Amino acid sequence: MSIPAGPEKEGRFTLSYTEKLFDFIESSPTACHTVETLREILLGAGFTELYEQQPWELEPGNGYFTARSMTSLIAFRYPKKGFHAFSIVAPHGDAPCFKIKESPEIRVDGRYTKLNTEVYGGMQLGLWTDRPLSAAGRLLVRTERGVRAVLCDLKRDLFLIPGLAIHMNREVNSGVKLDPQKDTLPLLGGEEADFLRLAAESAGVRKEDVLSYDLYAYNRARGTVFGEKEEFIAAPKLDDLECAFSAVTAFLKAENPENVTVCAVFDNEEIGSMTRQGADSSFLSDVLARVCHASGLSEEEKLRAVAGSFLLSADNAHAVHPNYADKSDPTNRCYLNGGVAVKHSTRYATDAVTAAVFQRICEKAEVPTQTYFNRSDLPGGSTLGNLSNTHVSLPTVDIGLPQLSMHSPYETAGRLDVEYMVRAMSAFYSSVISCDRNNFFEIC
Ligand code: CO
Repeated sequence: MSIPAGPEKEGRFTLSYTEKLFDFIESSPTACHTVETLREILLGAGFTELYEQQPWELEPGNGYFTARSMTSLIAFRYPKKGFHAFSIVAPHGDAPCFKIKESPEIRVDGRYTKLNTEVYGGMQLGLWTDRPLSAAGRLLVRTERGVRAVLCDLKRDLFLIPGLAIHMNREVNSGVKLDPQKDTLPLLGGEEADFLRLAAESAGVRKEDVLSYDLYAYNRARGTVFGEKEEFIAAPKLDDLECAFSAVTAFLKAENPENVTVCAVFDNEEIGSMTRQGADSSFLSDVLARVCHASGLSEEEKLRAVAGSFLLSADNAHAVHPNYADKSDPTNRCYLNGGVAVKHSTRYATDAVTAAVFQRICEKAEVPTQTYFNRSDLPGGSTLGNLSNTHVSLPTVDIGLPQLSMHSPYETAGRLDVEYMVRAMSAFYSSVISCDRNNFFEIC
């Protein structure tokens, strides 16, 4: 063990999650693949897949999951006997990237083919240049009887967005404005290059049968460990696959004697969540309603279960940046390897009550927490907790792991924090939080 565990004693945590996290990220290049990765993990753990279009019959003591639109997934453990409430953790499975448009080939001088792309989410455009990229997503393929979706991952260094030489742009180090329709189109090949043919071949289907697709560029680089004491990690999509990985790991580890535990991984957080499968949809409330229905709960019992539930909205937070320490709030500063961040902002769902309950759970589990606020003159991003609350309103706290360079294709975080998060979420999942009167919570 080469990393002294911060405020904890050396050897306290097994740092076995690092490579597993990198594997998880590598097998989840798009939200579709995140769901596929989760599906494999859950099926391997004995869970049963349910379909929203079909009736649900739930056996006591079993685990289930359902996906919506192939890109969001909700898993839950159905208790052995009656339940009182839901213990929910909700991260997101999408990340900012380039989406490859249809008919993407643009020929240049009869010598090059580049791809027409658009931006998905709040990208740092300039950081995507000069690194090999691949493409993944889904193809919608014609069949005898209709249409089917086929996952596609080209899994090779396929194209690259070449940067402009400093000799052709002397101002480059004084700040450059990039135009996503002009400056960031990736170079695919020579004049004959055919992107869809490559994608179809890699998925084992005929190009002529592809009716439509959702394909995205992604950074293939595997995560790495760095730092004097190997205390940092860098990898693509730590926002928010670090939380998604932690959530499913904790979900599978923990058992709750009285609550239905729920792991909800949403798509489309990076574009505002307002899709059929995003957090700002009926997906979570529909699943909770169906679990209640399958249990024979009355309408009043269902409302009581929801009111007594608790949600961790899990999305990464900004750590203090070593070169821009002044960009963080003067008194609420989060650091890599300092523990789970509890995020406060008017755009988050956290309030003093939910923050206190979560911090108390972490305290009992000996997991350090840090408090995050934006600088008052720098409005931060929003996330999924408060949007989800407009559909199913329950006590919610926004949490995340501190990280640097959020929305870069290669982000940095603290290695120990993954262990903290798994431990915090496991403690949350195993806790029974009961609220007998307003704002009086008992945690056992
Ligand atoms: Co995020």
